[in-house]
Amino acid sequence: MSKEIRRIGVLTGGGDCPGLNAAIRAIVKTAHNDYDLEVIGFSDGYEGLIENRYRQIDIDDASGILARGGTILGTSNRADPFHFPVLQGEEYIYLDRSSQAVRNFESLGLDALIAIGGDGTMAASARMAKEGLPIVGVPKTIDNDLFGTEVTFGFDSACVTATDAVDKIHTTAQSHHRVMIVEVMGRYAGWLALCAGLAGGGDIVLMPEFPYDIDAICDAVRTRNARGKTFSIVVVGEGSRPVGGEMTVARTIATSPDAKRLGGVSHSVAAQVEGLTNIECRVTILGHLLRGGSPSAFDRLLATRYGVEAVHMVVRGQTGIMVGLQNQQMVAVPLEDVAGRIRTVTPNHPLVKAAQSLGICLGVSSSVPLEEHYKDPVAS
Ligand code: F6P
Repeated sequence: MSKEIRRIGVLTGGGDCPGLNAAIRAIVKTAHNDYDLEVIGFSDGYEGLIENRYRQIDIDDASGILARGGTILGTSNRADPFHFPVLQGEEYIYLDRSSQAVRNFESLGLDALIAIGGDGTMAASARMAKEGLPIVGVPKTIDNDLFGTEVTFGFDSACVTATDAVDKIHTTAQSHHRVMIVEVMGRYAGWLALCAGLAGGGDIVLMPEFPYDIDAICDAVRTRNARGKTFSIVVVGEGSRPVGGEMTVARTIATSPDAKRLGGVSHSVAAQVEGLTNIECRVTILGHLLRGGSPSAFDRLLATRYGVEAVHMVVRGQTGIMVGLQNQQMVAVPLEDVAGRIRTVTPNHPLVKAAQSLGICLGVSSSVPLEEHYKDPVAS
């Protein structure tokens, strides 16, 4: 028989995305309506737990937020409890604040914590679970790269935004006979580039998993021109890199567990394609636009299902796990299986096969099987 649950905490960590408020709402409503639990919301992810910044959230606080982007709790992607940045004078030093987080959790009389986040939050949660915190993770990220679940909420909304952008870019591409390059987020996984490319009718899709060969891209553009298609649309994942080259780092944020912030690879693709083909190229980088706005209906439903199930799992005493979606069913995935892993686009994925069948160029020469072009974006 599991321990009686009376009071639970909730936090949102990592980059924001559409659907966070829908998940918070589902957690609070299920906690109140089904189990009469109190809910404490921590501000700014694990930062709030470490610094004891929180507030009680009741049904009224969780009402009217379903369609709202962002997170009413605030978030942070610099709050690793085991390597927590603290400003000392003009410099940051890094302290292990995990035991402070445990003490705050205990002094608030909490019975469980629901941590909504991406890979960084799940990795921190796996370690905090080992320190004794009963945690249930809820997977979000526009990158859709969390291990243990087929889909994260936030991804569908970002895909809708990116597809809309690719649709709109088509008109200028056609009118001016240009190569138009649309860069999307997706640090170590090309899901957003692949899906927006497919849904938006892109001609060339570049992903972090398949280092690109500029000649293959130019050949695809020339082949289209020869067919009378005097424009091309390229959708580029921000983590894409050339064969033998590196990802394009826009800036580094020392206090962040993953310090690199990517962006700008499409400028070098544009310069090279223009130089080699003599066709004018233009770049549009969608960036944080993809993380904003109201969640799609799909994401509202998914975030709601995850939130409801997370509370049921807490009450059943299932902790140390993340809620996942597998074969349309809600499942519990051990946090330690999720931590430190990324779900990348694989060469044999049905969407990759579909892209190939449609004649979309994946930035590599088709004379060798795609499997041979795959390179793990994290390891390499
Ligand atoms: O992981 C989500 C994500 O949006 C990535 O796609 C992107 O590389 C990163 O976060 C950007 O983070 P920041 O908000 O710190 O610029």
